[in-house]
Amino acid sequence: MDAERGPGGRHLIRRISTEEIRPLRHRILRPGQTYEETLYPGDDLADTVHLGAFDGERLVGIASLYREDRPGGPAAGWRLRGMATDADVRGAGYGAALLGGCIEHATASGGSELWCNARMPAVGFYRRGGLEVVSEEFDVPGIGPHVVMALTLPA
Ligand SMILES: CC(C)(COP(=O)(O)OP(=O)(O)OC[C@H]1O[C@@H](n2cnc3c(N)ncnc32)[C@H](O)[C@@H]1OP(=O)(O)O)[C@@H](O)C(=O)NCCC(=O)NCCS
Repeated sequence: MDAERGPGGRHLIRRISTEEIRPLRHRILRPGQTYEETLYPGDDLADTVHLGAFDGERLVGIASLYREDRPGGPAAGWRLRGMATDADVRGAGYGAALLGGCIEHATASGGSELWCNARMPAVGFYRRGGLEVVSEEFDVPGIGPHVVMALTLPA
């Protein structure tokens, strides 16, 4: 999965472990929650993939991919969760590089679609990546309003 992506190929994306991903998850996505709550269902399943984006040695972005069908969606779906980049690197392409790595993995694994529950402020980011809104807005307690977004993968 190691790949140089983004402008000038300077965004190194590689697979990392559940333990490596949790501190950034806690700090960016779940700051009000306990560290225990940064472990998501399926994190340690064999087909789950955690990707990290690196600026040199520094881990600046994370994304996790689970073999999970969207409710009401097609079989062979892959669910994206825990997408985040550090505030001081946003807009520099790390998020897009991570999303690209997830799309590549799901496609190479024979996936039918990539989907996620998107926080409303992130909807524009996912749209840039080709995902479309496929649900009404709903609330995730403690986090806020979301919509389901999905991208059909090439066969
Ligand atoms: C959403 C997030 C991951 C985007 O990461 P990023 O590193 O800023 O993304 P990139 O720099 O790769 O941006 C890719 C493109 O999307 C655009 N973009 C980024 N965030 C956007 C947003 N919130 N709304 C609209 N467009 C956005 C960028 O301008 C860029 O466009 P370009 O291709 O024209 O240059 C980041 O803002 C983040 O971690 N937010 C807080 C956590 C969060 O909400 N995560 C999502 C949970 S569902």
